[in-house]
Amino acid sequence: MPEESEEIRRELLDMVQSLRSHIEQDIERGRSLSYLHLEGSLTPHFSAGKPGAAGGEHLSVNRRLQQNGFHAMEKVQHELGDCQRCSLSQGRTNIVFGEGNPDANLVFVGEAPGADEDAQGRPFVGRAGQLLTRIIAAMGLSRKDVYICNILKCRPPGNRNPKPDEIHACEPFLIKQIRAIQPEVICALGTFAAQTLLKKEAPITALRGRFHSYQGIKVMPTYHPAYLLRNAGA
Ligand code: URA
Repeated sequence: MPEESEEIRRELLDMVQSLRSHIEQDIERGRSLSYLHLEGSLTPHFSAGKPGAAGGEHLSVNRRLQQNGFHAMEKVQHELGDCQRCSLSQGRTNIVFGEGNPDANLVFVGEAPGADEDAQGRPFVGRAGQLLTRIIAAMGLSRKDVYICNILKCRPPGNRNPKPDEIHACEPFLIKQIRAIQPEVICALGTFAAQTLLKKEAPITALRGRFHSYQGIKVMPTYHPAYLLRNAGA
C-alpha cells in the first residue's frame, strides 16, 4: 500500500512539473493561458520586468496578469486571430505574433518572419535569431526577459521587403503590442524596422547608434543581425 501511494505521489509530481513547464513555455512564447483557471499560485518567470511589477515569487498568476502586460497582450493576440487582413496570410504556415516578457523594459522589433520563423511560429529562431539570442545574452539577459516581435507577423514570399499595404494591415497590432508592454526602450533591428517605426527614410547607417522617439518611447536603431552575419566587421 505505501508503495502504491508513493507511485501516485510521483505520478502527481510528474504531472505538476510537466504542466508547469508547459505554462512557462506558453508564457515565454506569448501564447494564451486561457486554459487556466487563474486562481492558483503558479510562479512563471517574469524576470527583469519593470520594477515592482513582478513582485515576489509567490504572487498568484491572476495577480501577475493584472500587474503586467500579459492580459493586454492576450487581447491583442485574440484580436489578431487567424488574420486574413492581407495576402501574406495565403502563403504563411504560422503567424509569428511575438514572444517574451509582456512586461519587458526592452522590446526588439525586426522586419518580418523568415522561413524558420514561419515554420515554427516564433520570431528570430533562424541564424539571425541565434545571433540575436547571443547579443541578448551578452547584455546579461535572456530571451524571456525581453519581448521580440516584427513589423509584419507573416512571412513575405522569398523574404522580399514588406509592401505598404502589408505594413498598413499589420502595424496596428505592433502598436497595440507596444502599448501593452509599455517598454522603456525599443531596439529597432535594421533599416526596415527603424524606418517603419520612426517614419523616416534615412538608412540605418544614419539612424543607428542614437536614441529616437516612438510615441514617447526611446528607440535605438541598430544593424539587423542578418546584416551582422554578412558583415562581421559591423
Ligand atoms: N528577421 C527578422 O526581421 N525577423 C525574424 O523574426 C527573423 C529574421
